[in-house]
Amino acid sequence: MSLDITQIRSQFPSLDRPAIFFDNPGGTQIARQSAGRIQRYFMECNANHEGAFETSRRSDEILNEAHAAMADFLNAARPEEIVFGNNMTTLTLHLSRSLARTLSPGDEIVVTRLDHDANISPWLLVAEDRGCKVTWIDFDVEDCTLKLDDFEKALARKPKIVAFGYASNAVGTVNPVRKITEMAHASGALVYVDAVQYAPHGPIDVQSLGVDFLVCSSYKFFGPHAGILYGRYDLLDELKAYKVRPAPDSLPGKWETGTQNHEGIAGVLGALEYFEWLGKTFGGEQEEGLRERGYRGRRLELKKASTAIRAHEFEVSRLLLATLTGIPGLRLYGLADPRRLDERVPTFSFTLAGKHPRLVAEALAAENIYVWDGNYYALAVTERLGVEAVGGMVRVGAAHYNTSDEIERLGEVLKKIAG
Ligand SMILES: Cc1ncc(COP(=O)(O)O)c(C=O)c1O
Repeated sequence: MSLDITQIRSQFPSLDRPAIFFDNPGGTQIARQSAGRIQRYFMECNANHEGAFETSRRSDEILNEAHAAMADFLNAARPEEIVFGNNMTTLTLHLSRSLARTLSPGDEIVVTRLDHDANISPWLLVAEDRGCKVTWIDFDVEDCTLKLDDFEKALARKPKIVAFGYASNAVGTVNPVRKITEMAHASGALVYVDAVQYAPHGPIDVQSLGVDFLVCSSYKFFGPHAGILYGRYDLLDELKAYKVRPAPDSLPGKWETGTQNHEGIAGVLGALEYFEWLGKTFGGEQEEGLRERGYRGRRLELKKASTAIRAHEFEVSRLLLATLTGIPGLRLYGLADPRRLDERVPTFSFTLAGKHPRLVAEALAAENIYVWDGNYYALAVTERLGVEAVGGMVRVGAAHYNTSDEIERLGEVLKKIAG
């Protein structure tokens, strides 16, 4: 494996517990740099926005720096394109309300069955409010990849918004975001991408993808509970935001309604400082290629980190896949071809013959192995796979800090549970 996992793990204080965290798609452990930023925020500059005094000035400096760092992480053109909020769901409900104003009865919105419900229900609500038609894109139940033919048919009807995910939080599929975005743009639609599940696993470049909006959540990438919305400057500027009168009309303030979770935003900056450390420490191999693509400074370090994580996680996926497919009675959902690991992240869902997913999760928990069971709000996925009525699936989701020993231990315990 290409990362020094012992050194990586030393950056995560909570990994000292005698637990194996495979619950990462539900939330990762926090990096030391992030927890440190949160604590320092409270000790050194806890204040409200835009005051005339020192703590407020220092607080604003941190908030501005967090916008700049997040713009660097996503390669956004400018920090004003970064909007912080409670979480991805709340930001999506917020922005979708503004986009709804631009729609007319009969307009079409495209959603997919592979998405988390946070990138489905907000659009269903928009459709209900505005009398729009919703088109669902299906996925192939064999490998859980989106049906691009469905997109083509849906796009021929010139929808106004196309909402889809970067990676599935249920079955790990990575979608061809650039390709779908190009197709959607060619038909005149706006593109809204849920990158919550992808952000901890690989590099994101909103400019090269060409997306209009992209959302993620820092508690899934080693930071605290805070959501992030990227929006193209002209769109965020033109759209009417639902906000109170004294709040600014400029970006990003017009979208950051109410007093923000300042300590959380400081924590996002800390999480990105962790990535920067990782990039500087382990990203050497990636540097030349990324420089050629024009990344410099912090943008380069952050891309080195995410690219190194992605490369490392191919090996993690390979090991997990081999381990899980060796368990008697285990039915894996999603991509299981070891030659197609570049189409997935190390998030694997399965059922065990004759065992309810909750009982499997409990039996693993009894051995200090933490996994999720159920639908993890990817309701359309579990419904389409026909497992919703039987307790969903067990989900094992690795992060780059998981070790091969942990995967081996998971295999041993699962074999015992499977009988
Ligand atoms: C793919 C995906 N999208 C959206 C969400 C919702 O994110 P949040 O909890 O920040 O609202 C999640 C959370 O599990 C997710 O995994």
